[in-house]
Amino acid sequence: MTTALVILAAGKGTRMNSDLPKVLHPIGQAPMLAHALRAGQNLEPERTVVVAGHGADEVSRVLADLDEDAQIVLQTEQLGTAHAVAQARTALDGFSGDVIVLYGDTPFIQPQTLEAMLAARAGADVVVLGFNAADPARYGRLVTKGDELLKIVEYKDASDEERTISLCNSGLVCCNKDTLFDLIDAVGNDNAAGEYYLTDIVEIARNKGLTATAVTCDEAETLGINSRAELARAEAIFQARARQQLMEDGVTLVAPETVHLSLDTVIGRDTVIEPNVVFGPGVTVESGAQIRAFSHLEGCHVSRGAVVGPYARLRPGTELSEDTKIGNFVEIKNAVIAEGAKVNHLSYIGDASIGAHSNIGAGTITCNYDGVMKHHTAIGQNVFIGSNTMLVAPVSVGDNAMTGSGSVITTDVEPGALALARGQQTNKPGAAIRLFELLKAKKKQNDKGKS
Ligand code: UD1
Ligand code: CA
Repeated sequence: MTTALVILAAGKGTRMNSDLPKVLHPIGQAPMLAHALRAGQNLEPERTVVVAGHGADEVSRVLADLDEDAQIVLQTEQLGTAHAVAQARTALDGFSGDVIVLYGDTPFIQPQTLEAMLAARAGADVVVLGFNAADPARYGRLVTKGDELLKIVEYKDASDEERTISLCNSGLVCCNKDTLFDLIDAVGNDNAAGEYYLTDIVEIARNKGLTATAVTCDEAETLGINSRAELARAEAIFQARARQQLMEDGVTLVAPETVHLSLDTVIGRDTVIEPNVVFGPGVTVESGAQIRAFSHLEGCHVSRGAVVGPYARLRPGTELSEDTKIGNFVEIKNAVIAEGAKVNHLSYIGDASIGAHSNIGAGTITCNYDGVMKHHTAIGQNVFIGSNTMLVAPVSVGDNAMTGSGSVITTDVEPGALALARGQQTNKPGAAIRLFELLKAKKKQNDKGKS
């Protein structure tokens, strides 16, 4: 059976009190919308349509990065959830199959739940996802009789008796596409909110002799985000789940609650993550690496056997090959560090390549920026860069070469050469003792003058 997704994301999200469209607020360093998309993508939908309204331009830009096949349609006025789905009609022209309607601000829906909804379609024309709410509050209520779903009443329109129902509407719906749009055509806005409710399709379907049923999931899956406080709670839930998943996948987290992960973080088995490590977007770590305490990684790849930190910062474009060592207070950006190379202390390596088994001394800086442009530093293999070397890019250091400590390297160093680029040292015998005496005598004179 082919499937299409319609993700509703036009709402203003007033309670976020933000210029950023609600669905672009991040959880696990990825826009909320990416989470809903990801759950849906597991079904390998034939089409994905996102209904945007507030901040549609921004949503559109972000969506293009997340899923280049997804289409965006505009709902210029937010007249209700049925009206929102109706905007996807043209985008679904020529598609036949089931449509699942998701919300862009409900990030925790699990792929298995979507599959259960699709499976339930075998027994009903309209499938709604419900949940038993601990505190049903203002959710729509599902009115059921046995396995049948009779109707959904919005809280605003519900009778006192209906408000005692704890089975609530998550908002997710699954229905054959043609049926869905036929039902939506019949939805009016004569209700407490004056909106076109998608929830009305249940009653309309039944009046037409069609059937409806509810599938339920855990309340945690349907958690919606409406405020910054809920966003923070969602972040905590995301982190807890992501950490748990990593541990199940065989990754050691020494202090799981202090490790922060992104939606796309990938870490291999038997890697050890020490306390207080942050994984920004786009990080992959192979098996058997060690990420030591207080390190910050984003947009980088760490290979097997590498040791990173403590206190290391890996920025986008960092590629650490096997058995590399990146030590404390080292920042690396857009650089490839070949097998077995070491940058152990207090260095900045940016826009560079370092060959296999080279050792970069403490305090080495690649001076990659001239104030206007960025330049590349190429270091060969088995090179020894002396401590406190400034490599003024563009510059290269050939294989098996060395630089003297404190050198400012401005021209290429040929393979095997020793480059020294620092002031000449001269020692003046006895001069220190004479200088000390002179200074002490001066101080004595000054002190006399004061008393
Ligand atoms: C909706 C359901 C309610 C359910 C609740 C679950 C309806 C009528 N009610 O209520 O039964 O318990 O969700 O959270 O469906 N949206 C648009 N365009 C619109 C209106 C909404 O894109 O014109 C989007 C919003 O951005 C949001 C989603 O649809 O992602 C739900 O809209 P919202 O206004 O939050 O619906 P609720 O009143 O919470
Ligand atoms: Ca809502």
